Amino acid sequence: MRKKLVVLTGAGMSAESGISTFRDAGGLWERYPVEQVATPEGYARDPELVIRFYNERRKQLLDVKPNHGHEVIAGLEQFMDVTVVTQNVDNLHERAGSTKVIHLHGELTKVCSSRDPNDARYIKELKPEAYEVKMGDLAGDGSQLRPFIVWFGEPVPNIEVAAETVMAADCFVVVGTSLNVYPAAGLLHYVRPGTPAYLIDPNEVVVPSGCRVTVIRKGASEGMDELREILLGDKRFVQ
Ligand code: APR
Repeated sequence: MRKKLVVLTGAGMSAESGISTFRDAGGLWERYPVEQVATPEGYARDPELVIRFYNERRKQLLDVKPNHGHEVIAGLEQFMDVTVVTQNVDNLHERAGSTKVIHLHGELTKVCSSRDPNDARYIKELKPEAYEVKMGDLAGDGSQLRPFIVWFGEPVPNIEVAAETVMAADCFVVVGTSLNVYPAAGLLHYVRPGTPAYLIDPNEVVVPSGCRVTVIRKGASEGMDELREILLGDKRFVQ
């Protein structure tokens, strides 16, 4: 049976594709007040502004492409059973060819009901030619269509399936996340003791206490190249 590789990714994964991170200098949260565009309260106060913000993010998907790091992760499916657990709301892992992607914080290409964002009946994938959502566009339950994004203060429905996936991993890799946001950062605690874990980031990242990782201090593309060599050269991962 092929060994299980689980890769937890954050905004740094997509940085080399031209999508800015949140907390680096010049990051998204420096330019937009997070409480305005990424909380249910902000949405209740000014839905139009929030819908416009995500329309812009969604349109940006048309101008960017997966980078080499995304491609290396997708290519590892030739050798291992790979699951990506991502905090990113872009679709670059899928576009690079990854077939198992768990989105923790939602997906930009989808919209949902404002009344119950997780009611599967009203979650809808938008086609690129219809990426713009307008005030008055309604979900099947008659409420305003809202971005299918998990905002601060909202539950993270996929965290359980992600935790189970991490528990089953033979190798765990973290790429491009500052590990500031829970429950995603807490996934490191689910790695079984003794399981090799790596962290790829060009900057220093503080890992939750008690978690042991081998740090590869590089950007996502270069770091994934290095990790690929490590995995393919180790009989524990690839026979
Ligand atoms: N390659 C890899 N990592 C990089 C690169 C790069 N080229 N450039 C920057 N990074 C790293 C930064 O050093 C940082 O550790 O990416 C990380 C980005 O951290 P954040 O901006 O905090 O993004 P993230 O951890 O994904 O944020 C988590 O917070 O605002 C919410 O919902 C949002 O999903 C997001 C969550």
